[in-house]
Amino acid sequence: MANVDVNPELVKKIVKQVLNQSMQNSSSTNKKIFAFSIRKDEEPYVKEWAENHPEVEVEYTSELLTPETAKKAKGADGVVVYQQLDYTADTLQALADQGITKMSLRNVGVDNIDMNKVKELGFEITNVPVYSPNAIAEHAAIQTARVLRQTKVLDEKIANGDLRWAPTIGREVRDQTVGVIGTGHIGQVYMQIMEGFGAKVIAYDPFENPELKKQGYYVDSLDDLYAQADVISLHVPATKENFHMINRESIAKMKDNVVIVNCSRGALVDTDAVIEGLDSGKIFGFVMDTYEDEVGIFNEDWRGKEFPDKRLKDLIDRSNVLVTPHTAFYTTHAVRNMVLKAFDNNFKLINGEKADTPVKVG
Ligand SMILES: NC(=O)c1ccc[n+]([C@@H]2O[C@H](COP(=O)([O-])OP(=O)(O)OC[C@H]3O[C@@H](n4cnc5c(N)ncnc54)[C@H](O)[C@@H]3O)[C@@H](O)[C@H]2O)c1
Repeated sequence: MANVDVNPELVKKIVKQVLNQSMQNSSSTNKKIFAFSIRKDEEPYVKEWAENHPEVEVEYTSELLTPETAKKAKGADGVVVYQQLDYTADTLQALADQGITKMSLRNVGVDNIDMNKVKELGFEITNVPVYSPNAIAEHAAIQTARVLRQTKVLDEKIANGDLRWAPTIGREVRDQTVGVIGTGHIGQVYMQIMEGFGAKVIAYDPFENPELKKQGYYVDSLDDLYAQADVISLHVPATKENFHMINRESIAKMKDNVVIVNCSRGALVDTDAVIEGLDSGKIFGFVMDTYEDEVGIFNEDWRGKEFPDKRLKDLIDRSNVLVTPHTAFYTTHAVRNMVLKAFDNNFKLINGEKADTPVKVG
């Protein structure tokens, strides 16, 4: 028998091509998903999903979804979206007029969708509630360590040619008691990272995780956490009850030289109260990835223009405050998951299947 060399890669390629061809020829070829506001950094992942689903026609635009641009989705069975701009009654109607009522968000938040109209038109909506807890936890941990080591002060000194050590002395993470408020997906990863640095970690959550409880992380109340923690990191949602949970009263209960970390939501923190704490020296440093007035300011280019928020500018200018414009989530890992999970969800919706993460309507 002749000895034939088989190239496994070539075989895989041919099999994939044949399968793709047969899928394209089959009756399920008429499904189409249209995606709006696709950024450059999302494009490779849209292409990745499309390549892995040759049976679906995928089209996209960088434009936001509006009553006018909705027409671009003509012929699609579902849409994939993500924008700060409201999904108004008119926008939803424009989609429904073309027979499109399956909409998959690439993000979590649904507060900019007209839910009454959604109900009226019978829309099915999905979101992506968990895309990479590590992205946010890692950012919070990096910034915590930077504040403790005063890296911003050092960077400024070095840039000005001042290479002296003192008085810019660091605090080691292992010497800190780190108090984590909210032990959900993100809080738990932050706890692991801080423990990796050697910190003592304590936590508070009204819904205690049984595993963490067994390991003895929980204190009984927020007041207990405030009294014991050198670093306090917030990982809770911005509910009505949590509005300004960090305020004058709670700051007064904290240890002197406390570090406060907010990579969660701006509304959790009374910014004026934190500024008072920074001015008095009670607060050693503040990490701020989210800001209560961030909408319309973050993710914009203010170079050469008048900066619109004096209070924020003052915080940005402080050496012991680390401001980032809500970028904790913004990693390749997270963005890929947001795109792929949204398309997976939409694919299930347009095939009449149960989506992985449907949004409860009404
Ligand atoms: N900066 C960013 O880029 C970014 C990205 C994603 C999410 N987030 C924020 O991170 C938050 C946490 O996300 P997650 O995925 O871990 O959510 P999650 O739902 O998994 O966990 C939230 C936890 O907070 C607890 N909680 C609620 N109110 C509390 C309170 N008053 N005190 C203590 N615990 C309380 C809940 O019981 C829950 O266990 C989100 O709500 C969001 O605001 C920020």
